[in-house]
Amino acid sequence: MRICTVVGARPQFIKAAVVSRALEKSGIEEVIVHTGQHYDDEMSRVFFEELGVPPPIANLEVGSGSHSTQTGKMMSRLEEFLLAQPAMDWLLIYGDTNSTLAGALVASKLHIPLAHVEAGLRSFNRHMPEEINRIVADRLSDLLFCPTESAVANLRAEGIRSGVHLTGDVMLEATHLFAEEARQKPLTEALTHLASGVYYLATIHRAENTDHPDRLRAIFDGLGRLQETVLLPLHPRTKERLHGLEIPSNVQLLPPVSYLEMLSLIGGARCVLTDSGGLQKEAYWLGIPCITLRKETEWIETLENGWNQLVGSDPNRIVEASRHLPDNQAVQVEFGSVQGERASSHICKYLRNYSYGGTKV
Ligand code: UD1
Repeated sequence: MRICTVVGARPQFIKAAVVSRALEKSGIEEVIVHTGQHYDDEMSRVFFEELGVPPPIANLEVGSGSHSTQTGKMMSRLEEFLLAQPAMDWLLIYGDTNSTLAGALVASKLHIPLAHVEAGLRSFNRHMPEEINRIVADRLSDLLFCPTESAVANLRAEGIRSGVHLTGDVMLEATHLFAEEARQKPLTEALTHLASGVYYLATIHRAENTDHPDRLRAIFDGLGRLQETVLLPLHPRTKERLHGLEIPSNVQLLPPVSYLEMLSLIGGARCVLTDSGGLQKEAYWLGIPCITLRKETEWIETLENGWNQLVGSDPNRIVEASRHLPDNQAVQVEFGSVQGERASSHICKYLRNYSYGGTKV
């Protein structure tokens, strides 16, 4: 069996890290294509090296651009690549980025069976580019690997039932696997120093925050009103939008950190403030409260017992939420695991069971 995996953005490298290991173990040949959506070393190379993701066979080097330009370039280059390859049994996509969308469309046009990891997630906000990518990817997929029961229910509500499987969450697996590695690897001297006292950990990268100066300013206003240090590893998109914005003195801007560093920083934080999907879950699984800088979340399970509070970009609500963090004794509802088995094992099993033995047509 031969699979082509399409990745392009940071969270996809992390998910691929656990799935690629499982594919290799079960003897499935995998060819990884990197679209080049994320291209800085700190946003890409470091993840492949640190997490042991097999090197991509091709990099489509699309770089930045508007959504349509970026997706269009990915599509034509991916199509060219796939046409020059022997037939693939599956094309595997992850999550909700433009790389996911391009992979879904090209696989469908070339009649390559399509499998989607992290299917069924919905924010019900169609202004998010990621929501559109999810809807299209799920509509086109032959196999839909859902991390949670609520993701299965979302698909059912849209009339999608065929090929839907509850596999659990590959991010839970990645968090467990790499948190252990992170514990054994000391932070750099600079990060150890910064993380030595009480601190908040923040990330901001969603277009709904970065591309609206008022919202971005409001978030920094809220961060500035927190009592302690806020460590903020900066996504390149956010860095570009900071010009003219006053950074409060308690906010410490950092370059992007690696996944192991991120897990260590989450583990030591008083609380995480973020607009990232993955970080909300990682905080939850590591027992750290989260304040989400969005109005909605796809990960509704994290809202149980107030572990995750949705505050949008309102500075007053940011401060208010930081005063109402759950204590560590609050019971967390475990989610993301199915029958105690790893999500990646379920995924490999279904890919094998549904093998079409080559292209669909
Ligand atoms: C993408 C995904 C988002 C995911 C996130 C993880 C889409 C629509 N969004 O958003 O779902 O959560 O990745 O990080 O696909 N840039 C660099 N260097 C890099 C990468 C990006 O400078 O290595 C800059 C570019 O200048 C560009 C922006 O950051 O302006 C990237 O935008 P985009 O490609 O949409 O990715 P993300 O914002 O990271």
